[in-house]
Amino acid sequence: MKRTLSLLALGLVAASAPLAAQDMRQMHMDNKPATPAPMGAAPATRESKLTYAHDIAPILADNCQTCHRAGEGTPFSMDKYETVKLWSNNIKRMVTSRRMPPWFEDGTTKKFENNRTMAQADIDKIAEWVDAGAPQGDMKDMPKPRQFVEGWSIPKPDVVWQLPKRFPIQAHGLMEYQYVIIPTGFKKDTWVQYIEAAPTDRRVVHHIVGYVRVPGSSYFKGVPLNTFFTAKEAEKFKPKMPNMVPDMAPDTGTAGTAKTQTTSSKGGGADVPSDWLVGYAPGQTPDIYKDGEAKLIPAGSDLVMEVHYMPNGTATTDQARIGVVLAKGKVTKRAMTLSADNDKFKIPPGDPNYKVDSSYTMPEDMTLVGMHAHMHMRGKDAQYRIVFPDGKRDTLLNIPNYNWRWQLWYNLAQPINTPKGTRIECTEHFDNSAANKENPDPTKTVTWGQQTTDEMMVCMFNVVFDAKFTTKQILRPAKAVKAAEKAPGKSKT
Ligand code: HEC
Repeated sequence: MKRTLSLLALGLVAASAPLAAQDMRQMHMDNKPATPAPMGAAPATRESKLTYAHDIAPILADNCQTCHRAGEGTPFSMDKYETVKLWSNNIKRMVTSRRMPPWFEDGTTKKFENNRTMAQADIDKIAEWVDAGAPQGDMKDMPKPRQFVEGWSIPKPDVVWQLPKRFPIQAHGLMEYQYVIIPTGFKKDTWVQYIEAAPTDRRVVHHIVGYVRVPGSSYFKGVPLNTFFTAKEAEKFKPKMPNMVPDMAPDTGTAGTAKTQTTSSKGGGADVPSDWLVGYAPGQTPDIYKDGEAKLIPAGSDLVMEVHYMPNGTATTDQARIGVVLAKGKVTKRAMTLSADNDKFKIPPGDPNYKVDSSYTMPEDMTLVGMHAHMHMRGKDAQYRIVFPDGKRDTLLNIPNYNWRWQLWYNLAQPINTPKGTRIECTEHFDNSAANKENPDPTKTVTWGQQTTDEMMVCMFNVVFDAKFTTKQILRPAKAVKAAEKAPGKSKT
């Protein structure tokens, strides 16, 4: 039972997001970070030929505008010279200290295709230009404005599911996660290649998760469709927590069931009776797969949308949505989001470096494409390693200064082939000491929980694998994989 609860909790917060400054203020009043305010432009201290129009605007368009544009919930947009100039000293400070753009892996392991790290030459140009008084130059030199599909960073979606109505967000306080079950309307199995979740008011959306609920799933069974509800409210529709096992059994080859394993010593773990489709958190890029690779939404599935609102001092509304672009050609590889997590930890009060491990053993040949470490306010660092069946080891991802406000995916530039039996190992440390400025209460023993003041030890990753594999094959507990390994031929895989 406990396991079941915690797995649901994983679903609940796994996409927990960077909190905007306002949320922080509201969550622990004593410890609020300064709300960003423009420092204005400083008088020129050096000469430079660099101008905004010719040299700087293109750099900002490439590195900053995906977030720093209207409607994206950032403190300012970088589309007008006047605004950029007003913020120019902040910009210099943030890029020279490499705090912007947000990116936390340390560059010592793999190459990541979505790496936001700026070229040093571009940082130097910005610094030089700011020192020269942020001159505008000739606006005829301006690059063509970068085009964004309004509200989306994927191509125009073929299908959009939206909350049934605008949800009212109160001005203050904490809010329970809101759920809505929306029928996909898909009459046949459908492959989706681009997937994005998007709020309509980004200022108050902490995170969104979209799950695929396959027909017959016990996930939120009996709860009315197209209606907002909380996990607690859902309880009255199902007197006991769902049994996870039935979702595994009637595998049709298409049913998706997300899988987690606890520490490998136990092997196995239970199953979430739903499949992670997509998450949104500020700074997260949408799910985009190569041609021929896609996530599967089986015929007749529902979409379960989970939205965590964080009041920011002003009452507002939001009507979040999830959009997908369908795969055009033949799909040969199925993509899935899996996770190695560990909910068995108990972080002692004051512990500055509490270690928690988890692992996941590949039950079939797969390819690893991306990773996403998830912790809360006491999260300190994260590391993913890989152990191949021949014993060869490698470090995949190193995040030495984890920042729980930025829930980023690290997508491998070169996906890694992970033959059956390959183990993904993950280690995360937590800082429960008073020295951790984010720590809401260093006197507390901290265990797994949904709120950001509780903790989570989650190491998600995306894989692709031969579309011929059934989810039952893919989601076999490690125990079954081991047994099959020991008795080759005896156990059908
Ligand atoms: C992934 C989204 C994202 C990208 C990319 C991004 N920013 Fe930001 N930026 C934010 C958000 C969200 C905030 C507000 C929260 C915060 O301050 O951490 C912010 C805040 C800032 C601030 C105000 C902080 C302060 O204290 O002055 C500056 C300046 C800034 N960004 C500059 C940049 C520059 C320059 C780039 C590109 C080189 C960039 N950002 C790229 C999301 C982004």
